[in-house]
Amino acid sequence: MRRTLMLCLVAATAACSREQAAPAASAGTSFASIPARHYGLGRAATPEEVAARDIDVGPDGAGLPTGKGSAELGAQLFQQKCAMCHGPKGQGMPPAFPLLVSRDPKAEGFKFASDYKLPHSIGNYWPDATTVFDYVRRAMPLLQPGSLTNDEVYSLTAFLLAANDVIPMSASLDSASLMQVKMPYRDKFVPDNRKGGSEVK
Ligand code: HEC
Repeated sequence: MRRTLMLCLVAATAACSREQAAPAASAGTSFASIPARHYGLGRAATPEEVAARDIDVGPDGAGLPTGKGSAELGAQLFQQKCAMCHGPKGQGMPPAFPLLVSRDPKAEGFKFASDYKLPHSIGNYWPDATTVFDYVRRAMPLLQPGSLTNDEVYSLTAFLLAANDVIPMSASLDSASLMQVKMPYRDKFVPDNRKGGSEVK
C-alpha cells in the first residue's frame, strides 16, 4: 500500500516537472501551432478579449472611459434596473440588498468605529467617486453585470452621487468631472502604506 502511494507520488512529481519544462505559448502563437498538452483545451485570449475584461478604474480615475451621463437620466435608469433590489429610493432591502443612498444625520461624522450598526451609504462612507463608477460597471445589475453602456454607468454614478447630496441633481458627469468629485469623508481614509514586517497582521 505504502509502496503504491510512493509510486503515485513519484509519477505525480514527474508529471509536474514535465509541465514546467513545456514551452509556454506566447500571446502571438496561433492555436494550431501549440503542441497538444494535457487535454488540448484552451487557447490564448485575443487582445480584444483581454481588453473587454480589462475595465478596472483606479481611485485616481485611471481607466475611466469616454462617455457622459446625467443624474436625471440616471434616476430613470435606477428605477428600471436597480430599484427592484436596492429599493426605489436606494434605501436597500435588508438583509440581502444593501442601502446605497442615505445622509441620515445620526450616521454623519464617520462614527462607524464606535457604532458599527450605523448605516453605511455611498454618501457617508465611500472614499472615492471614481470607484462607484468602477463597481457599478463591473458588478451591477447583479444578474447582468457588464450589460450597461459607459454612458449609462456615468448617468447612474451621477444619480447615486446626487441622491447622496454629493453633487446636484442637475449635474452631468464625464471622466474629467467625475475625477473632480470629492467624497464627503475622503479625508477619513489613509493610504495603506504598510511595507511588510511586524505591523502587517
Ligand atoms: C438582483 C438584485 C440587484 C440588482 C438588480 C442591482 N443590485 Fe446592486 N447590489 C446587489 C447586491 C446583492 C449587492 C451586494 C453585493 C456584495 O456585497 O457582494 C449590491 C451592491 C451594490 C453596490 C455596492 C454597495 C456597497 O456600498 O457596498 C452598488 C453601488 C450597487 N449595488 C449599485 C447598483 C446599481 C447602480 C444597480 C442598477 C444598475 C444595481 N446595483 C442593481 C443586488 C442588486
